[in-house]
Amino acid sequence: MFESVSAAPPDPILGLSEAFNKDDRPEKVNLTIGVYCDEQGRTPVLEVVKKAETRLLEKEATKTYLGIAGLPSFLAESMALVLGSDFDTGRVAAFQTPGGTAALRVAAEFLASSHCTSRVWLSQPTWPNHPSIFQAAGLRTETYNYLTPDRTAVDFSAMMEALEQQGRAGDAVCLHACCHNPTGADLTVDQWAELAELLSQRGMLPLVDFAYLGFGDGLQEDRQGLSQLLQRHEELIVCTSYSKNFGLYSERVAALLILTSNHVTTENVSSNVKRVVRPNYSNPPRHGGAIVAEVLGDNQLRQQWEAELAVMRDRINSVRHQLVERLQAHGAAKDFRFLLHQKGMFSFSGLSPLQVDWLRKEKGVYIVGSGRINVAGINSRNVDYVARSICEALQV
Ligand code: LMR
Repeated sequence: MFESVSAAPPDPILGLSEAFNKDDRPEKVNLTIGVYCDEQGRTPVLEVVKKAETRLLEKEATKTYLGIAGLPSFLAESMALVLGSDFDTGRVAAFQTPGGTAALRVAAEFLASSHCTSRVWLSQPTWPNHPSIFQAAGLRTETYNYLTPDRTAVDFSAMMEALEQQGRAGDAVCLHACCHNPTGADLTVDQWAELAELLSQRGMLPLVDFAYLGFGDGLQEDRQGLSQLLQRHEELIVCTSYSKNFGLYSERVAALLILTSNHVTTENVSSNVKRVVRPNYSNPPRHGGAIVAEVLGDNQLRQQWEAELAVMRDRINSVRHQLVERLQAHGAAKDFRFLLHQKGMFSFSGLSPLQVDWLRKEKGVYIVGSGRINVAGINSRNVDYVARSICEALQV
């Protein structure tokens, strides 16, 4: 039966990490998957997470199933963090999900199965998993150009023009709240306001992927785009993940928040989302959600978390500056100062697929095919090698 199955292509991000692990060159550098690394190249467990886990170990009384929606304290803290503590939670169908991917997938399945929408707009480029997730749920994906032709900045007029001319009432529009993946190029607050206005006039649904909250400019600053949307949309969807900002990658913890205009609709939506979750993963795992709830629900732990988050954010920004400085010092045949405006873990280098391949084969420097570099994987030991290799790749 299985012999007729032909090989599928590797995942554009996770597949590269597998190839990296098999590479035995000592100088190899993994700048692929979006995982934070410290100066020593480790992805540490946050101190605050360790503290919360110690407390949980002491007080945990059961491992019984959570409800389909997940841990209530986690959901309450997530709503307060993302929407603000005074938001009417009766307007939110909230679900704890195994990672941001599941939040997006459950949202997509809900939209498709409840016949709310049949099309989702995605930026071009976007996270390579976005089209797969929405298409797997049976939604059609459309794209709008997100970058200027030289691929160094957001092409806001192209984005607006596509949505204005081709968008239809009922379409969903997937937006990256901050730290756009893969480009690191974000909208300004004024652009968010204009976009929010357009979507509201056209009856289009914002579906916000908020995977990097706190990695851009700070917790409040990174919510500015979302608050523009909230001012103009009663209905919207937010998928927020704790993989990056809590370093809880393998605990798979995220929240899906579906905002409705009233409490009755929230109940109706919730009942339908339950019908999506139950035959899929049934109910979410407890541990990651319990950690997040423990930290966000305690003033002291929360302050510690914010401080540790700031350390990660500052390190990434400093490494981005070091990379640009080293590229210039090595006489790069291209002005890379545009990288300095990018936010979050990624730098979108503008390197071609050919140059990306060359870097991997000749130098053992692994970056994603789109030219996306995980800046957090750079440190003082490899920054010079990476910069020199990129300069050489530009000659290919
Ligand atoms: C990434 O873009 O590298 C991360 O979001 C991890 C993933 O699952 O792809």
